Amino acid sequence: MDPIKNPFSPGAGSPPPELVGRDPILEQARILLGRIREKRPEKSMLLTGLRGVGKTVLLNEIERLARAGGYHTIVVEAREDRPLGPLLAPYLRALLFELDRIAGAGDKVKRGLRVLRSFLGALKVTYEDVSIGLDVDPEQGSADSGDLEIDLPNLFVAVAEAAEERKSAVAVLIDEIQYFDRKELGALIMAMHKVQQRQLPLILLGAGLPILPGLAGESKSYAERLFSFPDVGALSEQDSAKALRDPARAAGVAFAAEALQEVFRLTKGYPYFLQEWGYQSWNLATTSAISLQVVQEATATVIPRLDQNFFRVRFDRLTPSEKNFLRAMAELGPGAHRTGDIATTLGVKVTSLGPVRAKLIKKGIVYSPAHGDMAFTVPLFDEFMVRAIPEFKR
Ligand SMILES: Nc1ncnc2c1ncn2[C@@H]1O[C@H](COP(=O)(O)OP(=O)(O)OP(=O)(O)O)[C@@H](O)[C@H]1O
Ligand SMILES: [Mg+2]
Repeated sequence: MDPIKNPFSPGAGSPPPELVGRDPILEQARILLGRIREKRPEKSMLLTGLRGVGKTVLLNEIERLARAGGYHTIVVEAREDRPLGPLLAPYLRALLFELDRIAGAGDKVKRGLRVLRSFLGALKVTYEDVSIGLDVDPEQGSADSGDLEIDLPNLFVAVAEAAEERKSAVAVLIDEIQYFDRKELGALIMAMHKVQQRQLPLILLGAGLPILPGLAGESKSYAERLFSFPDVGALSEQDSAKALRDPARAAGVAFAAEALQEVFRLTKGYPYFLQEWGYQSWNLATTSAISLQVVQEATATVIPRLDQNFFRVRFDRLTPSEKNFLRAMAELGPGAHRTGDIATTLGVKVTSLGPVRAKLIKKGIVYSPAHGDMAFTVPLFDEFMVRAIPEFKR
């Protein structure tokens, strides 16, 4: 079929032709936005899920809902080794300027800018290369202690009060939130705690790899009261079929039932893979009926494509000992595995695995779904590891 008309959209953050299976989360977001706008208490949301399940797409959709509901929004993407303060500050600056342009009496917006200026002053002490200009006098002592867990809450409260005064609300959306370290996550949690206690109209909507177990002891029980963690997962077989069938049908193309079953068998319902199989099947189809045979032909193209792109970019960042660790995990099959079993497979002591494990977590390749367990953050990565290193030698 004509590649120009291809409705499927494999890619990071590319909106799918149809956002299937996410209505419960969107409904929860709609309620949350509505309640905070009316200054009623509600938990903020952190969407968690593996690579390519559609977290970014959902976050963008929620941002759209927020804007439609009269929110001022900022969307930030966290990155490995980018500290939170300097990352967030320019966005908050732009937001405060936006609020400043809304007509209204009062001086809370100006105060917000002064508190931000004091926050920036402290950042400049910690990080020398911060160069965010703000031509106002700092409010001494407001957010300049240099301790993020004190300064960020004060800054959030000042921003939220500014929004409240202009009869608006603020949504802070943060993608890839797992890249923040414990201290930074702690500061975000405390900031949201303070905002909530004062019933101010500011919410945090995050997305990232499953991080709950990574949130340290005390701040964790705290976090559970302040945040809900909707799980963004693979789609059911029915929803997977819908994700392919409906967009194709809208363009006059029909998937055969066996073709849809085969795609589900191969993708296990993971959205990114569904888009890849849909995309290639469409391009290979010569008639407006996509048969099982077309899907099988597509598979021959999709797997090497995934190996060379989606999987390979992650694989290439690994050291030999990290690859070995992951290959041992793959040897144990899909799902989560005890670190002890990985050590046994590798023929080493569990205690010796600490450093390599920590590095892989930092690189976002594996995560710990429960204490002592390890799992891949990338769906079907175990199958890829076996293709990349067919023979496992310990
Ligand atoms: N509900 C859905 N139905 C069908 N396709 C979807 C759905 N959600 C996302 N997709 C598709 O899945 C792919 C991945 O989406 P997205 O980039 O949002 O995932 P992600 O969870 O943010 O991944 P990562 O962790 O790598 O950032 C995109 O091609 C998108 O079009
Ligand atoms: Mg994403």
